[in-house]
Parts: sequence; C-alpha cells; structure tokens
Amino acid sequence: MTEIAPNIYWVGGVDWNLRNFHGYKTEEGSSYNAYLIVDEKITLIDTVKEYLFDEMIDRISEIIDPSKIDYIISEHTEMDHSGSIPKLLAIAKNAKLMASPNGVKGLKKHFHNITSIDECYEGMVLNTGKYNLRFYLQQMLHWPDNMAVYLEEEKILFSNDAFGQHIASGFRWDDEYPHGMLFHQVAKYYANIILPYNARVKDFVKRAIEPNEIKYICPAHGIMFRKYIPDLVNEYTKWMTNTLEKKKAVIIYDTMWKSTENMAYQLQRGLDEVGVRVELRHLSYCHISNIMTDIIDASLIVVGTPTLNNDYMPTVSGFLTYMKGLKPEGRVGFAFGSYGWSGEGVKHLDEILRTLKGWVFPLDAKQVNYVPTESDLKDMYEQGKVLGKYLLNN
Ligand code: FEO
Repeated sequence: MTEIAPNIYWVGGVDWNLRNFHGYKTEEGSSYNAYLIVDEKITLIDTVKEYLFDEMIDRISEIIDPSKIDYIISEHTEMDHSGSIPKLLAIAKNAKLMASPNGVKGLKKHFHNITSIDECYEGMVLNTGKYNLRFYLQQMLHWPDNMAVYLEEEKILFSNDAFGQHIASGFRWDDEYPHGMLFHQVAKYYANIILPYNARVKDFVKRAIEPNEIKYICPAHGIMFRKYIPDLVNEYTKWMTNTLEKKKAVIIYDTMWKSTENMAYQLQRGLDEVGVRVELRHLSYCHISNIMTDIIDASLIVVGTPTLNNDYMPTVSGFLTYMKGLKPEGRVGFAFGSYGWSGEGVKHLDEILRTLKGWVFPLDAKQVNYVPTESDLKDMYEQGKVLGKYLLNN
C-alpha cells in the first residue's frame, strides 16, 4: 500500500512474471493499479486481474474493512482492471458499482450476473464527503468504455490506460524509478496501445489536462507521476501530434540466405553516410511490440523480405498486420528484398505499405534475384543516401 495524499492510497496488484499482454511483450511485467479513497463514503477506483484479488484485498484491509466500500468505480471494462469486481462485490455487498455508459454495457457482457451498475457521464461529479470526483469519458483510450477521474481537492488525475506503462516494481513513483527506463516504457505503451487514437488523446488532453491543475497522475498500469508530469505531457503531445524525428529510420526485415540482410546493411550504410540514424530490426530476433516503439517517432520505415511460397515471409506478414492495426501515419516508406523465381514477396509488401495513410514513397521498391551482386549492393547504398537526403530536405 502507498499513500498518495491523506487518506488516498494505491492498493493495486503487481504482476511480476507477466511477459505477454495480448501480444505485447511485457519484459518488465506490469501492475494493475487500484486506488482507495477513504472519505465519509469509501471509494475504490478499479480493481486488478482476477488472480491478484487477494493481494489487493490484503492491501485494502490494512486500511479499512473492505466490506465497508461504498463505491466501486470501474474506469475500464478490460479484465486486467475489472476482473476482480465479482469477488469484491461478494464482500462489499452494499457497494454501488459505477462505470461510463459504454462501461455499463461492457461490464454486463463480461459478468452476466451483475445487473446493477450506475452510469457516469462526462463532467458528472461524485461527492464522497470532503472530496469531489469528476468524470471524464475517454472513448477508445483504449476501449469504448474508458474513463478517467479527477479528484478536485487533491488535484489527482486517475488517468486509466492513458499515461500507463507495463512495469512491475516495488517503487511506485516516477522519481524513484530510473527515468530513461520509465519513459521508454511510456513510449512503448503509447506505440502499442494508444497510437491509433491520436485524435482522441488530443481531445482528452484538452478536456482533462489543460484546464486542471494536476499534482499527481495515477494511471492504471505501472508507475505514478508526481515529479515528471511536464515531461510526460510533452512526450504525449509529441506523439499525439505525430511529431517525428527527421533523422531517424527503422529497417525491419527477415532473411533466408542473407541476401535481404546484406541489402539492409548497405541501405543502412547509405542512410548513415548522410546523417540519418538507423535502427536495424531482424524480425526473427526483435519483437514486433519493441519495433513499434522504434517506429513511434521515426520518419523513414523500410521493410525488407525474401519471397517465400509466392509471398512475403510469415514474420513480415505478422509485423505488417500488427503495424497496420496501430496506424502510424505520414511516414516515408520503402520496400526491398530478394527472390528466387517468382518474386511476389516485395511486390505484395510494397502494395501493403502503400495503403498506409499519408505515407510517401520517393523510390520504387527494389528487389534482386537470388544473391545481390556488387553492383546491387552499391545500388542499395546509393538508395540509402537518396532516402536519407529526402528526409533531410523535406
Ligand atoms: Fe489496461 Fe485496456 O487495459
């Protein structure tokens, strides 16, 4: 248990061994942050995954008798936050469950025995005694039901998935945890969860961040913020406005007999030569959720593949499906690779990349037959320079 402000506590659960969150590689584990507000009426904001229920109840029990909880506010239907609600309602028998209008619908479809849930609307205020909790709907951050809660008197924003990070730690605060590691996980969370909804983030920041003085940001996952809130908001502002690093490229590829890989190396050399920093990511070794963190602010995205069974390689297919769903917009793109006899892989790859919103392609896709010659490799190096100069001049 951690006291955030007088009578306001973190009482969540830490998922130390979590390594996969619906396809997102969580190398640092995660936490599900529940918050207890002890006032004339006792309120719990969110719960934890079902298997961490006992851990949460132990923390709550250090402070109050859990049966005395009056309000359970569900900020988000996804079961990492709602999974313990049925067990909690069995203990807190008089508690009133509250959620956004979409949350009410979603919770009833997850927990078929729960029929009584009060709806919370945008701007609605719940008075618990000396505290007032104001509700902000956050549709699609990250499901249709999300909402945030602002505790006016202590200036705490319980921001739900927004500003979260998958980190398991005994340290709860941003000034207790290594800054670079924290913000790397903030970026990874944005790139893999929030990125398709940049416009929604802008709207939320305008409604809930800009008009309010905020002393603490308490997200649904990971570390809470009290010192680095300006950095956090600056980073979110950069990503939600799709502000990219002009001199950053990511080359993502797979290879069978190193032809595509050798082409990737020459492309990297060419880009490097003109001052563009390149992250080289081999899909057999790099997880797609980590590659998305590289992509979040990169101007140039290059994808390479050999042809396998008349198409691109399955690893490339998985990556393309994942990246397309997360909708990075407005990048410079380029497709390349090698083939033996039919050569559809690069063609299909190029077609997919060209469907992405706002992407531009200064060069045609490039592929070589079997093994690149010295001339092919020189050509890749030169194409790297051309792409690099395009980035620097546009
Ligand atoms: Fe942390 Fe969308 O759940």
